[in-house]
Amino acid sequence: MAERDQELRQAAAEEIDKYKEEVASDPYRLLFHHMPPVGLLNDPNGFIQWKGTYHLFYQWMPFDTGHGAKFWGHYTSKDFVNWVHEDIALTPSDWYDKNGVYSGSAVSHNDRLYLFYTGNVKDEEGNREAYQCLAVSDDGVNFEKQGVIAELPEGYTAHFRDPKVWKNGNYWYMVIGAQSKDLQGKAVLFQSENLYDWKHLGPVTGSLENNLGEFGYMWECPDIFQLEDQDILMVSPQGLEEEGMNYANTYQSGYFAGKLNYEQPHLEHGPFRELDRGFEFYAPQTTLDEQGRRILIGWMGVPDQYEQAHPTVEKQWVHCMTLPRELSWNGKQIIQQPVNELKDMRGPALIHSSITIENDQKAVRGIGGRATELNLEFDRIENQFAVELFQYAAISYKDGILTLSRPHLEDREKTEFRRVKLPEGLRNLHLFIDQSSLEIFVNNGEEVFTSRIFPQPEEEDILFTSLGESSFSIEQWKLSGFKLS
Ligand code: FRU
Repeated sequence: MAERDQELRQAAAEEIDKYKEEVASDPYRLLFHHMPPVGLLNDPNGFIQWKGTYHLFYQWMPFDTGHGAKFWGHYTSKDFVNWVHEDIALTPSDWYDKNGVYSGSAVSHNDRLYLFYTGNVKDEEGNREAYQCLAVSDDGVNFEKQGVIAELPEGYTAHFRDPKVWKNGNYWYMVIGAQSKDLQGKAVLFQSENLYDWKHLGPVTGSLENNLGEFGYMWECPDIFQLEDQDILMVSPQGLEEEGMNYANTYQSGYFAGKLNYEQPHLEHGPFRELDRGFEFYAPQTTLDEQGRRILIGWMGVPDQYEQAHPTVEKQWVHCMTLPRELSWNGKQIIQQPVNELKDMRGPALIHSSITIENDQKAVRGIGGRATELNLEFDRIENQFAVELFQYAAISYKDGILTLSRPHLEDREKTEFRRVKLPEGLRNLHLFIDQSSLEIFVNNGEEVFTSRIFPQPEEEDILFTSLGESSFSIEQWKLSGFKLS
């Protein structure tokens, strides 16, 4: 519906305009992470390099800092540092997506860009319908909706969404996040020869499949891809119980590695492993770029996890994306590293090659700031070591366990913790700090902690604490941020 589409675009533009100054005045706005211009941002969508340009779409609610009838916002870049904020890609303007152009993915075919997404529909009583939909573009900025291309198969509730499409051999495949009628989360496979006609093949795995036992009541945002000799299913299950240091957030994101049999269909896989250990990480999506790199971007947020307690809500916006990370397989697990291009944001390096701290807390000359990359390499940690950021968050290591702590976002009197065990100890911490975000790559990408942080805006101090003796080196770069147009 062209008219409704125009109305919605106009209303969103007015909303941006109305809150422009208020949003811009927020000291928690980030310098090198994707944010909404106003309102709420969630999942990365349609992530692809197409004709040389990276396209990153995002779930966007322009009219509120809560969830609702989502649009697809759109950023593009040739190098992950210079970004263009493009016109809105898709609005919830049609009968089959009127309550949200929900998450999905992109592929390139015959020179055209194809976007697959879920049309979310709710009636007056709140009953939900889900349609898998297609939109196509010749120029990468104007998209023509093609309507519904796959309906709900038997055996599933209307929680059936987030199509991720890829090609294998002569066929296109689509994996969808689903809930079966008996309320178990599943990843469901479809097949097509032409991107328009889709055949339902069945679940590749899920809760109560593959000896998994109960493993969540809904699986969101699945993504299937190959990494070396492994078939990876990345997925965001909902309904996992906290278990030791695992599954500490409201909802999880992680992966299974194994072998996918497309005919059956069936993924023979090992255990689920979380991709990130921080407070805010969800709904990651990957793409294979023209250099053959598998790159991941996630949402730096978690649904239903005190989203309204983020202080940015007062300034009419909430959430951002993670940095793009390159994935590799080390024979046992996925390794995540910030993409190389981010080095182009670096100012001159400040290097301290041998620092020793013994039973003391110290600042290190020149180390600090709120748009900073820090790399710490450890020679020795005798007992306990900690980095304290801006009198707010702390990363500490003791007895093989790395802990991130920060004040509870809802109850600032309390401290909350996220932990991971490092079987081979702590060798390296690589931090990206951006005003109100923190991404920590541990042991060259074996683990990552991604979190929002809300210290006093003027706080810039970083302190290092050691119980017993710790010796390490530090490299620091002040980061210039994205160039946005
Ligand atoms: C995940 C999710 C998706 C859905 C989208 C709606 O965060 O719930 O399953 O498509 O967000 O914005």
